[in-house]
Amino acid sequence: MALSDFLKQLDEFSASAVEAFGRCGDAGSLESARIEFLGAKSGTLRALQKQLGTLQSDEKPQGGKRFNEVKREVEESFKTAAARLESGESTGGAAKGPRFDPTLPGQAFDIGHLHPITQTIEELKDIMGRLGFSVADGPEVEDERHNFEALNIPLEHPARDPLDNFYLSVAGKDAKGPLLLRSQTSTVQIRVMEQTAPPVRVISIGRVYRPDTADATHYPMFHQMEGLLIDRHVTMADLKTVLRLFATSYLGHDVHIRFRPSFFPFTEPSVEVDMSWGDGWIEFGGAGMVDPNVLQSVGYDPEQVSGFAFGLGVERLCMRRHRITDIREFYRNDVRFLRQF
Ligand code: DAH
Repeated sequence: MALSDFLKQLDEFSASAVEAFGRCGDAGSLESARIEFLGAKSGTLRALQKQLGTLQSDEKPQGGKRFNEVKREVEESFKTAAARLESGESTGGAAKGPRFDPTLPGQAFDIGHLHPITQTIEELKDIMGRLGFSVADGPEVEDERHNFEALNIPLEHPARDPLDNFYLSVAGKDAKGPLLLRSQTSTVQIRVMEQTAPPVRVISIGRVYRPDTADATHYPMFHQMEGLLIDRHVTMADLKTVLRLFATSYLGHDVHIRFRPSFFPFTEPSVEVDMSWGDGWIEFGGAGMVDPNVLQSVGYDPEQVSGFAFGLGVERLCMRRHRITDIREFYRNDVRFLRQF
């Protein structure tokens, strides 16, 4: 027999055996196919092996090599088919079940996404980053120095009332006095200034805790974005500019911003920050020029540097942006709500 004919027969054998094994939908038909193609006595492979003997002797090495390759391929495809049937899958072919169509689009996995508050935090960091503010972090369990004293909130101040704070029953290792869940992110201002020399330009976004009864606008845990800028010759105009740039970036160019005189122990003067879209003013937080007492408490010289600080409610920003009317929705974890963001 001519070598070229022999090689052609091998190829045909390989193609039809692989196709037949792939089509088998049960053990019985696979066994018949095995006997047909690989059977020791009268299988096609056996017949081809006999043909190999009829090749001219100088063509035998090449024919034999190809014969062995094809034998291995076909045996592999038989094993694959057997494993497939064993694993409970039926056929890829016609025997049973729907035909497998590799051109159909796959089933998309529902991989979920970030919580709307997390998305908001990422965006706020991004906007403030573009304004030159880096991100600082502080602990949620705080001592009284960082939550109150260094912020110019003296011992007798009503803000320290146990009924308005989550004091913890465990005492701090290094801290004197009790620990509490921080009631404001202004704590991070102190931590940053304790560790860095001016100038300072940071924001800090995180959870704060207050024993409020949950309703549409209150929740015992919520998020604040704190901002702090300390440098030479900082003025209230800088504060307003930064907040206006922030507000227009996050909420749109039609937003107006206004300051109302207010009081915070750690700023002087202090203001409430309101925003509006022509439909009434909404308060978003507080701000002011950092009180010289605060600068002194962290070892800064109020004669040399000044600065501004602000604290805005993150939930409030997100609610206004997405027209959410109840803060509790964020923490019910109802996927029908969360899926919308
Ligand atoms: N910490 C204040 C609060 O929780 C908000 C605030 C007001 C933060 C004025 C500031 C500030 O940094 O300067 O109500």
